[in-house]
Amino acid sequence: MKEKKISTATTIAGVKFDSYACNASGVKCTTLEELKELGRSDSSAIVIKSSTMKLQKWNDGPRWQYLGKNDMVQSNGLQNLGCEAYIAYSKKLKKYGKAIIGSIAGSSIGEYVTMVTAYQKSDVDLIEVNISCPNIPEKSQVGRDFEQTEAVLKVIQNLGHKPIGLKLPAYDDPAHWNKMAELILRYNISFISCINSIGNVLIIDAFSRSTVIKPKQGFAGLCGASILPQSLANVRAFYDRLEGRVSIFGVGGVNDGESAFKMLLAGADAVQVGTAYERNDSRIFTNINRELIEMLEYHHFSSVQEAKGQLLYC
Ligand code: DHB
Repeated sequence: MKEKKISTATTIAGVKFDSYACNASGVKCTTLEELKELGRSDSSAIVIKSSTMKLQKWNDGPRWQYLGKNDMVQSNGLQNLGCEAYIAYSKKLKKYGKAIIGSIAGSSIGEYVTMVTAYQKSDVDLIEVNISCPNIPEKSQVGRDFEQTEAVLKVIQNLGHKPIGLKLPAYDDPAHWNKMAELILRYNISFISCINSIGNVLIIDAFSRSTVIKPKQGFAGLCGASILPQSLANVRAFYDRLEGRVSIFGVGGVNDGESAFKMLLAGADAVQVGTAYERNDSRIFTNINRELIEMLEYHHFSSVQEAKGQLLYC
């Protein structure tokens, strides 16, 4: 008898995903062509670049630099085509038959309200509210200031029926996990994406004595395989605190089936792939899924649901 193939299908906030891996906002998801490429790929969703109210240009270059084989620093500056463009695109992307995730980065409470209201009326399935972009000069990350976070959550929670999620910064203090988890539960947040890049690292080239990135005097977000320990910790910390009431995207350092499997053990419902998609092509989604199935088979799990959260303690 032929053995039944394991599926990596999953759900985020009640929305079905055919497989466990999709793209992370930021990488190759700014133009319509890039979004269509995600539609044609094995990415299980189309996650759109974080949008602002109006088109925003790149920071001056060099604004990104590859590090080693699997990492990168970047300070792009939230370049995007503006939220109206993405709302129009969401209609065109429907034909790919997969979840469409709009992402929003406001610079005031009023902007968050305006954009969440607009996305609530659009064709996106889920709305990811980015409260953790570290690359805007002079702007603090909303997600590091719990009063600001609460002020945003209060006003965006009842603007429509599409599930709202939060893209969170990397926390490293249990008191911060406690506080943020309490806010997430109190304000009916349906999903979280942990984590954004590790903000404001500084890479120095000793030969040229120079920073490698131009914006913000070289301070930039660190992404890729080396941030996996921080993303795993954040996924696990929130999994432990959110009582199964909130879906979790694991983001940060997922580049193969093994890292996706670790996210699954930590408690992620799905993973988003950023740097590994930047440094490879869209076959990365196919490969991660195939290798994740191999990991599940090896450990005798028959589905991602069965393996979710099943981390062992030594
Ligand atoms: C950018 C970086 C981020 O980490 C983010 O969340 C949004 C935008 C950027 O620099 O473009």
